[in-house]
Amino acid sequence: MDDRTWPCPQWADQCLPPDRPIKSACSSVCLLHNHTAGPQRQPVQVHLRSSVYLFTMAAPKKVCIIGSGNWGSAIAKIVGANAAQNSKFDDTVKMWVFEESVNGRKLTEIINTDHENVKYLPGHKLPANVLAVPDLVEASSDADILVFVIPHQFIGKVCETMKGKIKGDALGISLIKGVDEGPDGLKLISDVIQEKLGITMSVLMGANIANEVADEKFCETTIGCKNKNHGALLKELMQTNNFRVTVVEEYDVVEICGALKNIVAVGAGFCDGLGFGDNTKAAVIRLGLMEMIAFARIFCTAGPVSSATFLESCGVADLITTCYGGRNRKVAEAFVKTGKSIEELEKEMLNGQKLQGPATAAEVYLILKHKNLIDK
Ligand SMILES: NC(=O)c1ccc[n+]([C@@H]2O[C@H](COP(=O)([O-])OP(=O)(O)OC[C@H]3O[C@@H](n4cnc5c(N)ncnc54)[C@H](O)[C@@H]3O)[C@@H](O)[C@H]2O)c1
Repeated sequence: MDDRTWPCPQWADQCLPPDRPIKSACSSVCLLHNHTAGPQRQPVQVHLRSSVYLFTMAAPKKVCIIGSGNWGSAIAKIVGANAAQNSKFDDTVKMWVFEESVNGRKLTEIINTDHENVKYLPGHKLPANVLAVPDLVEASSDADILVFVIPHQFIGKVCETMKGKIKGDALGISLIKGVDEGPDGLKLISDVIQEKLGITMSVLMGANIANEVADEKFCETTIGCKNKNHGALLKELMQTNNFRVTVVEEYDVVEICGALKNIVAVGAGFCDGLGFGDNTKAAVIRLGLMEMIAFARIFCTAGPVSSATFLESCGVADLITTCYGGRNRKVAEAFVKTGKSIEELEKEMLNGQKLQGPATAAEVYLILKHKNLIDK
């Protein structure tokens, strides 16, 4: 073999300065492209300029997206395109789809044939390497990276189905906004997944209204991740020119922000429904942010709770966008104007999409009651 037949496509030209000793060049290239890292190793024997070297090359990581709603489909567009271009990831990205019939056809069949989720993200093509799979275990069992993006009320059942049937060293990342009200009070959704499946979890939250992300309009997002290497890998999987990722360590604060802002958005919607102006809504947003910070300072006990995290996309930016553009605001406004119940409006206005704000408000109320903190 010569340089040109090296198995890494990025090797030739870029990475082997001709004046550099072969051995050090080899080791820096392999570290650069992550060939020596990772749980699965495939030995690769390379004959280079008359010498023989034995390398290990990490197999491309298989990615599975658990969920295919509005946000699940928008993120599939990004992850599918990134995986297709990056040799660290397997080309095929499986997406678990909760099967349903749309105009007499199965949604999975529509996605795999027409490459569009016509129910939850109409008008946007998904990359052809995104494969819709209706069976959850089949979709997730061989994945190295699991992206959880379903409405939080379904996470318990989904984890039960996956339990014991996935790779033990898989990495998980949750894009789910909400909290769980367990017997001991607050439980983050990422903690629920970690406990049930025994995998290491990170989170991604931000000012990311799915349709705008799918339109490739510029936005920022925040990954909360304790492990720097995992954070870097997940950033490579998620980031694009128009979807800029910042990684922070305070994963629990990032996740709490994502859940609580939906409650504030319901308040902002009431404000709009009652005909109050922008000043009043700004007050609701400011007071809401103060309460989010106070709540995080009590309940995020895994590490520090720094003000800087609230200034990331997951904090103030997500709060603002949700209070102006999100579905929780919209339905809350209609609740005031029509007098219909939230359940009725969810059915009428959201075409199968789920509301998170009212359910999260109920859960947070019970959590505060449990801790005798209702007064706060
Ligand atoms: N849509 C957004 O703009 C956005 C942005 C950021 C984060 N999020 C969060 O992402 C998560 C997923 O939201 P979404 O917008 O992708 O979903 P969605 O509300 O658009 O769609 C609902 C999804 O739930 C599925 N579903 C229905 N019944 C089910 C069941 N019994 N079991 C499992 N799945 C079932 C449907 O098939 C559909 O895929 C939520 O936590 C949401 O807060 C959404």
